[in-house]
Amino acid sequence: MRLSRYFLPVLKENPAEAQIVSHRLMLRAGMIKQAQAGIYSWLPLGFKVLRKLENIVHEEQIRAGHIPMLMPTLQSADLWRESGRYDDYGEEMLRITDRHGRDMLFGPTNEELITDIFRGHVSSYKDLPLTLYHIQWKFRDEIRPRFGVMRGREFLMKDGYNFDLTKEDALHSYNRHLVSYIRTYERMGLQAIPMRADSGPIGGDDTHEFLVLAETGESEVFYDSKVTDIRLGEREIDYDSVEQCRAVMEEFTSLYARTDETHDEAVFNQIPEERRRSARGIEVGQIFYFGTKYSDPMGATVQGPDGKPVPVHMGSHGIGVSRLIGAIIEASHDDKGIIWPEGVTPFHCGIVNLKQGDAEADAACDQLYAALTAIGLEPLYDDTNERAGGKFATMDLIGLPWRITVGPRGLKNGVVELTSRKTGESVELSPEEAVRKVAEIYAPHHPHLAREEPMAGRSFHTWL
Ligand SMILES: Nc1ncnc2c1ncn2[C@@H]1O[C@H](COP(=O)(O)OP(=O)(O)OP(=O)(O)O)[C@@H](O)[C@H]1O
Ligand SMILES: [Mg+2]
Repeated sequence: MRLSRYFLPVLKENPAEAQIVSHRLMLRAGMIKQAQAGIYSWLPLGFKVLRKLENIVHEEQIRAGHIPMLMPTLQSADLWRESGRYDDYGEEMLRITDRHGRDMLFGPTNEELITDIFRGHVSSYKDLPLTLYHIQWKFRDEIRPRFGVMRGREFLMKDGYNFDLTKEDALHSYNRHLVSYIRTYERMGLQAIPMRADSGPIGGDDTHEFLVLAETGESEVFYDSKVTDIRLGEREIDYDSVEQCRAVMEEFTSLYARTDETHDEAVFNQIPEERRRSARGIEVGQIFYFGTKYSDPMGATVQGPDGKPVPVHMGSHGIGVSRLIGAIIEASHDDKGIIWPEGVTPFHCGIVNLKQGDAEADAACDQLYAALTAIGLEPLYDDTNERAGGKFATMDLIGLPWRITVGPRGLKNGVVELTSRKTGESVELSPEEAVRKVAEIYAPHHPHLAREEPMAGRSFHTWL
């Protein structure tokens, strides 16, 4: 993308309405624009990051054996009357009436709808286990929408639902989700700690929330400092292995880590004092096992091995996809702007032309642009007539992890400059070396780069 052709409405001034850094930076970097309280338009740069996060979520869900689909945003009130939640859900549910006077609602979550799909099509235990998920907009009429996309009214959520014959099988589904979520967050450059939580209106006994530690987080959390040392990293996981998934779940959840709802001073105080931490966190996901809470009242049964009908054991599992963008920025920024982790950056590399209109500089930039694009990377080339200081400020604000700076002086010596957004360190390299270096940096995120094959026919949704 060339900046002269893009739509990147950056703001010079700090918007007065933004109380926290992620909201401020998303507005300043031209990622979002508020449409109404808690409802945002996703401008091109914000939309790109959102799609990157969705991609990671899809890849990790599919890796875990979960099946993508798409349910509508508008649901029938009758389904929610069956589960008893239509009245229970309260003011957060946006209720709508159609022209025939039928009660509808904008889905805040999808347990009822998915259970209806399941009961309509699955009748035998032989079709289990089954986990279906989608990534879809949700609406919750939050009393105090704030902090930009962190607490919106309309927000994007991945929600998945497992159907199992027994509690034991459903607990494996629970553990499998836990592992896949940790891997998902790590790929986004985040540490999200699973913490014992309260189940709220979803119901059930077993539930963990995933929290990113941040001063601006809305949740109060208590944990043993040793939990922050645990990483999943690159280890291979067999998601069908009950033992492997359970072992990871135990590793990540055995140390004390709880939200204020389940916090227990007596248990907490058994941890050595120097390891006791209380802090704030951003909830970026939650997993639930709730047994037959929905399958019982809604009649989602399968014929068991003995021919008798049994209600299926279920769980639901959510990731706050749009909220995650705010959480990533809270965790990764400096005074100048955002610092995107390489796994989620909207463009892989900025190209800054210090002297637009200089024949040599223009040609070198065009070649860099073509070379990066040919190997399947997306550069953002600032080809505008803005002065150098302004170009650097914009690149720093929008947070691309790497920048190649091209100017006539360097080109005389055959070099361009490659700069890390995170450390500010620069190295002088030939243009070819700069491209090779950037390809190397991104190889872990784009396996085709390691194979040195140009990526043919990249499609928008490569994961499906
Ligand atoms: N109003 C919101 N704006 C943005 N993301 C949200 C919002 N509400 C929930 N989410 C995200 O969706 C995920 C799954 O939804 P869940 O039902 O667990 O939310 P929740 O526990 O009600 O969230 P919260 O306690 O923050 O209101 C949450 O972990 C969170 O990341
Ligand atoms: Mg939750």
